[in-house]
Amino acid sequence: MEPVKVGLLGLGTVGGGTVNVLSRNAQEITRRAGRGIQVSHAAARDLNKVRICNTEAIQLSTSLQSVVDNPDVQIVVELIGGEKLAREMVMRAIANGKHVVTANKALIANYGNEIFAAAQNKGVMVAFEAAVAGGIPIIKAVREGLAGNRIEWLAGIINGTGNYILTEMRDKGSHFNDVLAEAQRLGYAESDPSFDVDGIDAAHKLAILAAIAFGIPLQFKKVYTEGITNISQQDVEYAEQLGYRIKHLGIAQRTGTGVEMRVHPTLIPERRLIANVDGVMNAVLVKGDAVGPTLYYGAGAGAEATASAVVADIVDVVRTLTSDPENRVPHLAFQADALSDVAILSMDQVKTAYYLKLQAEDKPGVLADVTRILAERGISIEAIIQKEPKKTSPEQDRTATIIILTHRVIEGSMNQAITQIEALDAIKGAAMRIRVEHLSK
Ligand code: HSE
Repeated sequence: MEPVKVGLLGLGTVGGGTVNVLSRNAQEITRRAGRGIQVSHAAARDLNKVRICNTEAIQLSTSLQSVVDNPDVQIVVELIGGEKLAREMVMRAIANGKHVVTANKALIANYGNEIFAAAQNKGVMVAFEAAVAGGIPIIKAVREGLAGNRIEWLAGIINGTGNYILTEMRDKGSHFNDVLAEAQRLGYAESDPSFDVDGIDAAHKLAILAAIAFGIPLQFKKVYTEGITNISQQDVEYAEQLGYRIKHLGIAQRTGTGVEMRVHPTLIPERRLIANVDGVMNAVLVKGDAVGPTLYYGAGAGAEATASAVVADIVDVVRTLTSDPENRVPHLAFQADALSDVAILSMDQVKTAYYLKLQAEDKPGVLADVTRILAERGISIEAIIQKEPKKTSPEQDRTATIIILTHRVIEGSMNQAITQIEALDAIKGAAMRIRVEHLSK
């Protein structure tokens, strides 16, 4: 049988990795797919650029459209990133009746609903394993491996750059900006690194995970997103002293009143496996009602790690080329007409525990005032530490740092308490708040 012809859009890191993996493991991949897979066409901006892969057997072009419109190409693999052009090309490929594989998280998070609807109309597949957590087969695991479960929550370290920054701050005492510069130099960071440090990249991935976990449409704009730029070396150290690690987590949770989708720095007990996922590695913890907690760990970025997911998707598409579209795994795990419109909760409604850091005048009664305000709102305290004032200036002489760990409370109540605490004369500046999750139930 003729090999299946694949057209690549983009021959950069992941495109090159995909060509290399398909060629190196051709025999194994053919045994799995039941047919050979050949990258027959590829489009790249600059054809003279030095590539990490051999392109001799590939018909190259600078025109994305020429690949998308080529009648020989059965599967279009979109690896150009970005939104506008990628969306145009993917929609065009679908209109041409071609199956699509993409690693583009921003594209799926923002336009997945329309893309999947178009694909369903045309009876083609759009596969996106590489869009979340690189080489970890998390889409497959949640969508198929956990299909018997009611998924209760998931929490993931789904941005390698952010995790690398927090790890280096903890292990080497490095400063945020120095580590970010290093992450950029190593090529982990997005072209706009604010996507990494402000949590946007993680929010794209979380929107996708929440959709396939709970059977809801993609709703990226409803993900609460907070970055790691306010986390200081001091916070990392204090967390450590309290037995916690600070991780930038994406959390999706089903509650009695709706679904939570949130990305923010989070204190996690250091004994949790996920708290020990360091450097650029990713991990996703998924709790199903039948299976209990499950943890998926691996490389979240990189040429061949991401190519591993792209190639797995290509194999999946090849295996189902001849099957009736109605009998394929639905794009978002649940049948398209069975997606639920359950409410997405605002942060005010979310219940979580807190780490609070206050700068307070070191005089009698301040702590009593703070604890009274918390008690009045029913917020109970798990631990308090007061740090000695640093004797570096007369002003700082009298300013102590107070760290408070609270039990779980509705965020709306905590916000009110923080406003009242900040209004106390003895409290200097704004309170620092980091959410705490135990990830045990
Ligand atoms: N910038 C992303 C990260 C790349 O650091 O995880 C993979 O999506």
